[in-house]
Amino acid sequence: MSKPNSRRPTRAAKKLSQNCGTAAPGRAPKSTVEGGCATNKGRSEIVPKPRRPTLVVGITGASGAPYAVRLVECVVRAGRRVHLIISLAGRLVLADEMGLGGSAARPDLSSLWPREVLAHVTYTPAETLSAPPASGTFDAQAMVILPCSMNTLAALAGGLASNLLQRAAYVALKEGRPLVVVPREMPLTTIDFQNMARLAAAGAVVMPAMPGFYHHPQSVADLVDFVVAKVLARLGIPHDLAVQWPGAERP
Ligand SMILES: Cc1cc2nc3c(=O)[nH]c(=O)nc-3n(C[C@H](O)[C@H](O)[C@H](O)COP(=O)(O)O)c2cc1C
Repeated sequence: MSKPNSRRPTRAAKKLSQNCGTAAPGRAPKSTVEGGCATNKGRSEIVPKPRRPTLVVGITGASGAPYAVRLVECVVRAGRRVHLIISLAGRLVLADEMGLGGSAARPDLSSLWPREVLAHVTYTPAETLSAPPASGTFDAQAMVILPCSMNTLAALAGGLASNLLQRAAYVALKEGRPLVVVPREMPLTTIDFQNMARLAAAGAVVMPAMPGFYHHPQSVADLVDFVVAKVLARLGIPHDLAVQWPGAERP
């Protein structure tokens, strides 16, 4: 796969970004600042803009970067903000699998998502611990780690929080917010099983990336959508990705 370092989403990203199904905002907002003033019959009054709920999305160095790219796009198109945290290994895998441009230190996210999506994304590298998601006071609806490496899985199961991604997940657990973890590895060791069981016991939802085939996928993008749709549904985020089983009465 080529790795263009351009300002435009790569071909792989563009292909995946076709039609999330949910109502797409027509254009990017001029500003991401919440709230604002409006004039009503000559009187200036504060008209609070409805705040987009924020979903924290963590991307680690497991294979499966296309899932993450698609998830972020669908979450934004469903009217949410994304606070995106990517580990160093996650950036390497995004570069390898999705053509993420820029450098590991300064990734060029515009090679993955169009401007209207990025307008609702705040990015922090996992190495930056001193960012708002490190605190329980950060107003996040939920967190998803997709894909989740066995390394991060083990850290979370052990209660570690040595980078921002792990800390944000720890915060979600301690604050009782939904944490969805999507591990990807095969085969698995008993250590991985135990880590998943420990995380599930602590309140996380563990959803291994296991696409089904009963929606009769025609492309890799259809398989990606299957996993992303399951995650969105678990979080109660609306979508109309075409992944439903049509029933046995298929013509
Ligand atoms: C190309 C590539 C693919 C990888 N795929 C996986 C994988 O599918 N699952 C996994 O658990 N680790 C995978 N790894 C290993 C992780 O990237 C490695 O354990 C890393 O330390 C994870 O760090 P993180 O959890 O901070 O992202 C892969 C590494 C590379 C370079």
